[in-house]
Parts: sequence; C-alpha cells; structure tokens
Amino acid sequence: MGKIALVLHGGAWDIPPDLVEPHRQGMEKAIAAGWKILQKGGSALDAVEASIIVMEDDETFNAGRGSFINAAGEVELDASIMNGATFRAGAVAAVQNVRNPITLARRVMEKSENVLLVGLGASRFAREQKVKLCSQDDLLTLRELDRWREMQSDPDFKSKDAFKKKRKASDTVGAVAVDKKGNIASGTSTGGTPNKHPGRVGDSPLIGAGTYADNSIGGVSTSGWGEAMIRVVMAKTVVDLMERHGGDPAKAVQEGLKILVRKVDGYGGVIALNASGEVGIAFNTPRMARAYMHTGIAEPVALV
Ligand code: GLY
Repeated sequence: MGKIALVLHGGAWDIPPDLVEPHRQGMEKAIAAGWKILQKGGSALDAVEASIIVMEDDETFNAGRGSFINAAGEVELDASIMNGATFRAGAVAAVQNVRNPITLARRVMEKSENVLLVGLGASRFAREQKVKLCSQDDLLTLRELDRWREMQSDPDFKSKDAFKKKRKASDTVGAVAVDKKGNIASGTSTGGTPNKHPGRVGDSPLIGAGTYADNSIGGVSTSGWGEAMIRVVMAKTVVDLMERHGGDPAKAVQEGLKILVRKVDGYGGVIALNASGEVGIAFNTPRMARAYMHTGIAEPVALV
C-alpha cells in the first residue's frame, strides 16, 4: 500500500479565543471521517467529500450551515472538487437551498459534461440529481444573523478586512487527499464573505484558484480573501511551485503566500499535499484551523 495522507483547512482568519476549541473539535471530527475512508482503502475523492461534509454540517465553519449571509439576507454557497487522476472537476457557485454543496459539485463532475453550474441552474441540477435540498432557515444560524444585522450599520466594510485581525469573520473549508492507489483529490466549500453582494463568487468554486489536483504533482485547497486568490490563480500557482521545487509542498505553500502578498496584498491560507503524501500548510492570517494525518504518524494532528 502506498502512503496515504489527508490534510484539511477550516478557515484562515482571526479566530477569537472562544471559538478556538469548537474549531479544533470540528477539525478532529472532519479528519476522522476522511481518514476512516482512506484507511479502509477508499478513494481520495470519497475522503475529501466526507471530511468537507462534516465541516459543512458543523455550524462553527463558514460552509453549509452557519455560512455568512449575503447583503440580500440569503445564504449563497460555493464549492468545488477535482480528481487529479483524470483532471475532471465539478463546481457550483452562488447556489441556494443545498445542504452539502460539495456533494453537488461532485455530481457536476461525475454526472454532467460541465465543470461549473451557478445559481438557479445549480439548484435545478440538485433537484434533478436528488441531492439533499434544504430551506434557507436550515442554513441560517443566530450567530450569523446577529453578524449580518450588525453589518447593515457598517457600510464601509470591505471583504478584505474580514481576514485581518479583530474582524470576526470566518472562512472556507477544504481538503486534499492521496489514496492507496496514488490518486489525489482536492475540494473546497464556502459561504463566501460576510454581507457579500448577491451573486458574488469567490475563489472556492474556481478550479485553479480555490482547488486544484494533478496526480503527477499534488493537490491544493485555499482559504482566505477570494478576490486576491483569484487574481494570482492561487491553487494552480502552488501546484506549479511544487513541481518547480521537486514536489516540496512546504516550500510551495510558503512561496505561494509570498506571491499572494507581494502581487495583490492578499490574506489567507493554503494547504497542499504531494504525490508522496507529504503535507504543506501556510497562512498569513492570525489563525487558521487545520488538520492532517498520514501513514507516518500515529494520531491525527488538529491545530487552530
Ligand atoms: N475564500 C472564500 C471566498 O472568498 O469566497
């Protein structure tokens, strides 16, 4: 059996002290769900989807239930997944009433000829595919309603500020895995930025910006200020850097973040994993929830 590995992020931002423990516990549950699959010989795609579903269902994170509310008072979700063995990918953006957008993204990859479906078309595809739908109320939490109400009296708020110190936002979740066959998969899911314009789409559902996987090199998922991540095509940039540095994921994520700061003054975090199951994690926000597990260690590591 080849080396199997799984790395997750649960949001790069200034996580306040009272939310550190819920984030750590959420990461532990998410890594356990994906690891169980990899350990039994399951696929990287199944592990990525399972870990992300746990984080989408946990209202601690800005994905699925508990996501940010947009300026129109609605929850609009983005997600993507990529199969590094085939270069096939699936994504949904600005979709409403879907409980687990990562599952819908996977259906787009596996059951359609498309890569990205948005808005009403994505919801319609969810109905056609019998993917679990839900009401807006199922995705809304009191914490986010309070934040949204507060933000209505802050017209100068810019989404970039959400990732800086003292701004109580949260961010995106993601996963990258390599399975026993050496197949690599990456996925990312988010509610986007707080009070975002209806229809605003960030990096998470964009293949190359938020998610990328290539079996011959590795996989990447990003978290942070989406507009900046899009401008430097962050996920693909880090995969390219990994290739340039002989497959070193730690060097690639560090250099990717330097590019993000130097070129677009960006904030966020990135996780990467190479074809040998080595992991790289970097962020320039005060905190980032993260977890990893591979066959070289006895227990999963979850940090905030
Ligand atoms: N990184 C999530 C977003 O900006 O939408």
